[in-house]
Amino acid sequence: MKILEVQKIDKTLAKKQVLFGVDFSVKKGEIYGFLGPNGAWKTTTMKCILGLIKPESWSIKVLGQDGLTIEAKKRIGFMPENTYLYKYLTGREFLRFNGSFFGLKGEELETRIDELLHEVGLFEAGNTYLKNYSKWMLQRVGLAQSIINKPELLFLDEPMSGLDPIGRKMVKDLLVKLRDSGTTIFFNTHILADVESICDRISIINKWYLIVEGEKVEKLKGTLENFFIEKVEEHDEYLKNPDTKK
Ligand SMILES: Nc1ncnc2c1ncn2[C@@H]1O[C@H](COP(=O)(O)OP(=O)(O)OP(=O)(O)O)[C@@H](O)[C@H]1O
Ligand SMILES: [Mg+2]
Repeated sequence: MKILEVQKIDKTLAKKQVLFGVDFSVKKGEIYGFLGPNGAWKTTTMKCILGLIKPESWSIKVLGQDGLTIEAKKRIGFMPENTYLYKYLTGREFLRFNGSFFGLKGEELETRIDELLHEVGLFEAGNTYLKNYSKWMLQRVGLAQSIINKPELLFLDEPMSGLDPIGRKMVKDLLVKLRDSGTTIFFNTHILADVESICDRISIINKWYLIVEGEKVEKLKGTLENFFIEKVEEHDEYLKNPDTKK
C-alpha cells in the first residue's frame, strides 16, 4: 500500500525551474532513501512535500488522503536539515514545547519525553541547555522531536550528517527499530553506506530531475556507490548532450 504518492512536482525558484516533474511513491512500512549529490534539490523536494514551500504544479497523496491535510500532518513527523533550536531551552523543555503542538500534555507528555530521551541516549542531558549540546546531541534531540507524536510517516533530512560512526549507528538502529514497529521512513541523504545498510528502496535526484525511482537496494547488482556514480554521471553527460540517447 502506498503511504505517500508524489506526482509531477514542478518548482521554480528565482526565475529558474529547479524541479521538473518529480514523481515517486513510498510504500507503507519501508525505509525509502532519497539520494542525490550536494545541491541536487533534495531538501527543496522535501519542503514541497511538507507544504513548507509551494510548487507551481503537483499532486500529492499522504496517508491515503489527497493533499497534505491537517489530519495527515498530525500523523507525520519531520526532522529538518538544520533543526532550529532555542538555545535557552533544555532538551526536555524543547521536547515539551514540540509535544504541545500535538496536544500532548501532563503526565502523558512527561512519560513520552522520558522514553524519547532514553531512546536517543540523552536522558542524562535532559536538563542541559541546548546551547551546551554538541553536534551529535543536537541531531539526536532533533530526531527525538520528530517522533514525539509516534508518526506513521517520518521525514528526515540528512539524519546522519555530521555524526561519527557511533552516532550514525545509533540513528540507523533507531530507524530500523521504528520501521520494524510500523513507521514508514523517508529520508534525504548522500551518505551511501548508511543507505545501503538500512534502506529498502531508493530514488536518485540529480540536477532538477529524478533519475532513478523506487530501486530495490537488495536487487542492485554491484555496490550502491557504483550504481549512484554511474547514474549521476550518465545523466550529467545526457544534460550536456541531450541529443545522445539516454
Ligand atoms: N529559495 C532558494 N532560492 C535560490 N536558491 C536556493 C533556494 N533554496 C535553496 N537554494 C539553493 O539551491 C540548491 C539546492 O538546494 P537544496 O538545499 O534543495 O539541495 P540539497 O540536495 O538538499 O543539498 P545538500 O546535499 O547540500 O543538502 C543549493 O545550492 C541551495 O543553496
Ligand atoms: Mg539538503
